[in-house]
Amino acid sequence: MSDTKGERRVDWLRPLTPGAGPRYMQIADLIARAVQTGELAVGDQIPSQRWLATQLGVDLTTVTRAYTEARNRGLISSFSGRGSFVAGVGEAGDEMRIDLSMNTPPQPASGSMGDALKLAIDEVLARQGIEAMSAYQDTWSGASIVQAGRAWLRPAVGAMAGQQELIVCAGTQAAIFSLLQSRTQRGDAVLAEPLTYPGFLLTAQQLGLRVVALEVDQDGVLPDAIERSHRETGAQVIYLNPTLQNPTASTMPEHRRKAIGAMLRKLGMTLIEDDPYRYLLNDAPPPIVTYEGGERAYYLTSLSKCLWPSLRTSFVLLPRQHDAAMLQDALRASSMGCSLLLTAVAEHWMRSGQARHLMLDIQREVRARQTLARNLLPKDVNAHPTGLHLWMTLPAHWNRQLFALALEQQGVLVACSDAFSVDANPVDAVRLSVGGARSQTDLAHALQRISTLLREDRRRGVRAIV
Ligand SMILES: Cc1ncc(COP(=O)(O)O)c(C=O)c1O
Repeated sequence: MSDTKGERRVDWLRPLTPGAGPRYMQIADLIARAVQTGELAVGDQIPSQRWLATQLGVDLTTVTRAYTEARNRGLISSFSGRGSFVAGVGEAGDEMRIDLSMNTPPQPASGSMGDALKLAIDEVLARQGIEAMSAYQDTWSGASIVQAGRAWLRPAVGAMAGQQELIVCAGTQAAIFSLLQSRTQRGDAVLAEPLTYPGFLLTAQQLGLRVVALEVDQDGVLPDAIERSHRETGAQVIYLNPTLQNPTASTMPEHRRKAIGAMLRKLGMTLIEDDPYRYLLNDAPPPIVTYEGGERAYYLTSLSKCLWPSLRTSFVLLPRQHDAAMLQDALRASSMGCSLLLTAVAEHWMRSGQARHLMLDIQREVRARQTLARNLLPKDVNAHPTGLHLWMTLPAHWNRQLFALALEQQGVLVACSDAFSVDANPVDAVRLSVGGARSQTDLAHALQRISTLLREDRRRGVRAIV
């Protein structure tokens, strides 16, 4: 775009995004970002309000409000008769940050999660009444949410969904904690992928467990490595996340799942299979638990990643011989269970088909965001077209922590490999989550910054040391 006044390029200007908040705020945000990225420098003139209104197709009053907002933030100064000029970097508040560090689903492509939630709460209260919601969870495996959960799990685990005990709990994280606590003793070894879910690492640390990293190849954990580590360390429990693994975004192929299932049966080890990302994929191979036979495997799935993390609703399918009371006691002791209102919303969505509808809508949004990432980032980034995250190994000239710090200074947050690593000194890599950005526009800004920074080699110009 060119400014008719100064005939300058206005490359920092982007089309406004419908549904991404008030338009005057979006314009002020555009100015703030351009100042942060250096596209606009202190002293640069910004376009006249009338010109900008025409370019963006908005009312003049919208731009006037935007310039007032920018002035209030300390970004611009205006002089009558001369126009408006960049005054400083303003306050880079939290609202300016683009957070790609947390693995949350984005808002659905059409409609808003807030609207769907309001409708569901109205429906639940009209049908069940506030009294039914004004209590604590007292049943863990007999509740109607569990029946809905069995139907939900059937596409993943088949007949096992109806044959084995199923428990509803307030998020997979609570289940991981309670399971590890009831299956291990302080000082025990637990086996895991070398890069794994930080919530599992935190739990292991809290419980005084020793996490042992298993050898992997491009298909995931090696069955022989499980046998070796089991014999060397005496570990009886293994934690795996085989579908859209957090953080590497890899999905273990079927042949490896079968081989691991057979090995775990042979060794008599307990598997905690954590599968929260499965429903984002349409073609994930069956879970390892289906090959292990459900003898000693716990299968964990959650609505957090395919619907909404604040539902705090997840399911644990127990092994055939497991005493459910032990897990229920552990869950009761830590949290007193689920929110009845939230599980009622989850159940209503699952039974009415709304959960599936929302999930497809989220998948659509994720697909668009992953396409942006594919177009803007290097080709060797590991990702799936409908996965929430990407795993990016950095070029040799970048250290992961310096890279993350440099990005943070530009208002973009990412997660370093250290957060996921069992051992010290992991590979120089970062995880980027596409769901955390408020809009595709924000995500594109962040990815452009990442792409530019990747090419910057800050070692150049370093003084030679002899
Ligand atoms: C592998 C894995 N398991 C569990 C969780 C947490 O699930 P929930 O929200 O159900 O506690 C996460 C969240 O990032 C995750 O990546």
